[in-house]
Amino acid sequence: MHSFNLKLVALAAWAAAVSATEPSASRHQLRASWCDFSKLGSHLSKGAQIYLPGTSDFDNAVARWSNLKVPKSNAVVVPATELDVVETIKFANEQKVPYLAANGVHGSITTLGKMTHGIEILLTGLNSVEIAADGQSAKIGGGIRSKNLTDALWAAGKQTVTGTCECVGYLGPALGGGHGWLQGHHGLVSDQFLSMNVALANGSLVTIDQKSDLFWAMKGAGHNFGIVTSVTSKIFDIQNRNYAVSTIFFSGDKVKKVYQTANEQWLTNGTAIPEDLNNWSYWFYDPTIDASGPVVVMYIIQEGVDAVSETHTKPFLDIGPIMVQNKTGDYRDLANWTGISLADGPCQKTGNANPRFPIYLKSYNPDAQAEVYELFKQATTNASTPFAGALFMFEGYAVQGVQALSDDASAFAYRSDNLLVAPLLSYKPNGPALERRAADLGNRMRDVLFRGSGESSLNTYVNYAYGNENAKAWYGADEARQQRLRALKKAYDPTGKFSFYAPIA
Ligand SMILES: Cc1cc2nc3c(=O)[nH]c(=O)nc-3n(C[C@H](O)[C@H](O)[C@H](O)COP(=O)(O)OP(=O)(O)OC[C@H]3O[C@@H](n4cnc5c(N)ncnc54)[C@H](O)[C@@H]3O)c2cc1C
Ligand SMILES: *[C@@H]1O[C@H](CO)[C@@H](O)[C@H](O)[C@H]1NC(C)=O
Ligand SMILES: *[C@@H]1O[C@H](CO)[C@@H](O)[C@H](O)[C@H]1NC(C)=O
Ligand SMILES: *[C@@H]1O[C@H](CO)[C@@H](O)[C@H](O)[C@H]1NC(C)=O
Ligand SMILES: *[C@@H]1O[C@H](CO)[C@@H](O)[C@H](O)[C@H]1NC(C)=O
Ligand SMILES: *[C@@H]1O[C@H](CO)[C@@H](O)[C@H](O)[C@H]1NC(C)=O
Ligand SMILES: *[C@@H]1O[C@H](CO)[C@@H](O)[C@H](O)[C@H]1NC(C)=O
Ligand SMILES: *[C@@H]1O[C@H](CO)[C@@H](O)[C@H](O)[C@H]1NC(C)=O
Repeated sequence: MHSFNLKLVALAAWAAAVSATEPSASRHQLRASWCDFSKLGSHLSKGAQIYLPGTSDFDNAVARWSNLKVPKSNAVVVPATELDVVETIKFANEQKVPYLAANGVHGSITTLGKMTHGIEILLTGLNSVEIAADGQSAKIGGGIRSKNLTDALWAAGKQTVTGTCECVGYLGPALGGGHGWLQGHHGLVSDQFLSMNVALANGSLVTIDQKSDLFWAMKGAGHNFGIVTSVTSKIFDIQNRNYAVSTIFFSGDKVKKVYQTANEQWLTNGTAIPEDLNNWSYWFYDPTIDASGPVVVMYIIQEGVDAVSETHTKPFLDIGPIMVQNKTGDYRDLANWTGISLADGPCQKTGNANPRFPIYLKSYNPDAQAEVYELFKQATTNASTPFAGALFMFEGYAVQGVQALSDDASAFAYRSDNLLVAPLLSYKPNGPALERRAADLGNRMRDVLFRGSGESSLNTYVNYAYGNENAKAWYGADEARQQRLRALKKAYDPTGKFSFYAPIA
């Protein structure tokens, strides 16, 4: 029998801890308290850990980025090997307790709150990166985070598509498609996958690739089907080390003109944002820059140059910004420039609720932009508003690599959209009334953009979703797509073990 690192072994301690944190333990929680973790421990590898309530390890492991409808667990297992994940699933199935994988803990869809008890499987120990001898692919652990992967590859002169935020998991984004700076060249994060190891609901570990029907589903609806313990992904020689950004700040009265220009420059002429360019804009209220309302900040990010070309910036500079900042650096600076590095706010656990209300768009409707700006201005500048720290995100990643694949290439449904847009209404939780107020406001803002888009169905990024959308909005309204997903769900997860994150109907 293996020894293992169990922080609190005894059943009595487990039961006491559960009742201490949950004074009115439900029938389910009492049932969970019957778990004898020494049985699981004997099946785990030497490096695996189990954290129980009442320890700081447990508290750290269950704290999340968004404190809204958080999943609750009574124990955290930290696997050290891929098989530890499988053993944990088998154990949980035997004990009839729910389980949920975690890594970067930035998942925030409100459906996660349906997990009221069970086991968190914290994957952070599975963080290896092994570059293949031919330098064309790497085997990557299912619990690595974005920056760790980028750094490990960079050190070898390599790169691949990852999410942009340094503290976010690598697989969490990828299982919903996965947007990143390099998608203009190569496609989505999940488009790079060659094969993966998945621990399924029935306690088996399978290796799948393009030949498996499950592979299609994992790349867009993957959270619904299993726990990825490792993945083999394409990697590339670093193409361009140097990057430049021009950050252009406008006051709110320029909002319409800014997005008219964005459309003319990139979107309405039938061409998408060029492959070497990513441009984002954010709105946020910073009275030190503009006391009158939220600033409209355009980030024009170009690769392979030491200064963004004038052809990209001039039309915006001509509008009359408040301020312009130009920076030069390398690929690894992008997170810092856009405020999503390890040191920045989005990587801290502040106790705030952080709901987003996403919508994909093909181009901007300048009138809708102006209308939603007014709502955002009221929400952020009103005296004593709880939403002063809100951020409106307009992410215009290059899309050539994404659109090079056909719509049925994977379960990711929104290849033909060009812009990922969402208000992020960060606030300090204060009961259900405020929660409703945030939801009303977020949905109202999204609705303005939806009506302005002229689309007939709401396209959302599952990984940004609030949780009130439905499977059609997360995975595509096309009925054939829905049927295919439902059939696969029935085959691979008939009892809905993996149904806490944006469940397929
Ligand atoms: C600040 C910020 C920046 C972001 N940037 C990007 C971005 O650049 N690109 C992008 O596409 N998205 C981005 N997102 C959205 C991101 O895709 C989701 O928040 C995602 O859920 C985060 O994954 P995680 O591992 O950090 O979170 P977690 O909450 O740990 O995981 C999210 C979900 O994925 C499941 N999961 C995690 N790992 C695995 C695995 N190995 N196998 C099976 N299931 C797993 C978990 O069970 C959970 O349901 C960002 C979000 C935030 C808050
Ligand atoms: C991952 O990155 C963080 C932050 O840079 C670092 O502290 C940690 O040691 C890294 N982990 C691994 C396994 O490289
Ligand atoms: C688990 O499910 C997979 C996929 O359906 C199947 O191939 C495998 O045989 C099943 N294993 C067990 C133990 O039932
Ligand atoms: C991309 O940059 C261009 C400026 O060159 C700008 O017109 C456009 O608005 C930006 N797109 C997004 C989505 O930020
Ligand atoms: C896009 O079209 C507009 C209007 O026809 C035109 O003024 C503009 O120069 C075009 N932009 C590009 C990059 O071709
Ligand atoms: C920033 O760079 C642009 C070129 O893209 C240039 O036109 C502009 O003058 C620069 N602004 C500042 C403040 O350096
Ligand atoms: C991020 O950028 C700021 C200024 O742009 C700089 O002061 C800071 O040192 C950078 N942080 C990191 C971690 O690189
Ligand atoms: C403040 O909020 C109220 C109610 O939400 C709204 O009616 C009012 O217009 C807002 N005030 C300003 C200055 O935006």
